[in-house]
Amino acid sequence: MLRLGVNIDHVATVRNARGVGYPDPLRAALIAQGAGADGITAHLREDRRHISDDDIARLSEALNIPLNLEMAATDEMRAIALRHRPHAACIVPERREELTTEGGLDASGQHDRLAPLVRELGAAGIRVSLFIEPAPRQIAAAISLGAPVVELHTGHYCELDGAAREAELKRIADAAALAAKNGIEVHAGHGLTYDNVAPIAAIPQLAELNIGHFLIGEAIFVGLDEAVRRMRHAMDAAR
Ligand code: PXP
Repeated sequence: MLRLGVNIDHVATVRNARGVGYPDPLRAALIAQGAGADGITAHLREDRRHISDDDIARLSEALNIPLNLEMAATDEMRAIALRHRPHAACIVPERREELTTEGGLDASGQHDRLAPLVRELGAAGIRVSLFIEPAPRQIAAAISLGAPVVELHTGHYCELDGAAREAELKRIADAAALAAKNGIEVHAGHGLTYDNVAPIAAIPQLAELNIGHFLIGEAIFVGLDEAVRRMRHAMDAAR
C-alpha cells in the first residue's frame, strides 16, 4: 500500500498570519489522521514562519500515526529532533528567502556534513530520509550515507507539461527503481494534486507520498477530511 503523509504546515501559515491560536495545526493533523492519513509531516523552519516548536511538541504528544519532521541539516534542528525523537526526519535544503523547498538536498556535494547527522539521528531510532532530486548521483550519495529512506522531489514534474513532464516522470521512476534496488525505501512529494498524482502513485517502488499545500487549500472548499479521503482514493485508484 502507498502511504499518504499529510503536511499541515500551511494550517500554521494561516494561523500565523494573525498571530492568534487558530486554525490549530494539531486539530488539522487529528482530522487528517481520522480521514486515513498514514502520517503527518511538519517542517520546522529556521525562521519558524509556519510550524512552531510548540506545535512539534504537541504533535509528538498527541498523534497515533507517525510524525515526519522536516528539517534543515543544522545543529539546532538536530538537537530538536533528538529531543522529540519523531518517527522520521526528512532532511531538506533550506534558504530563508525561498517560498517553499525549491530544490532537492545536494546529498552528493555535502557528504561530510550530512554523514554525522544521518548517523546520529539513525542511532536515536529516527528513520532518516533525504529529500533529493531524482538523479542517480543523489541516490548514490544516499547509499553511501547509509540513509534508509529518500524522498524524491516531484516539483519539476508538477510544473512541466507534455513530453517534458513525461521525461521527468521517467527520471523519477528510474530513480525510484535504483534506490529500491539498493534497499532504500522511496517516498516522493512536492506539488502533488488530484490531477497530477496518479502517474506518480503508479510507480511501484514508491512507499509514501507527502502532500501539503494542495490538500490544505482544497480543505477550504470541501473540508480537510474530504480532501484527504479524495487524495487517498486517487492514490489507491492509480495502483
Ligand atoms: N515533501 C517535502 C520534503 C517538502 O518540503 C514539501 C513541502 O513542504 C512537501 C513534501 C509537500 O509539498 P506540497 O506542500 O507542495 O504538497
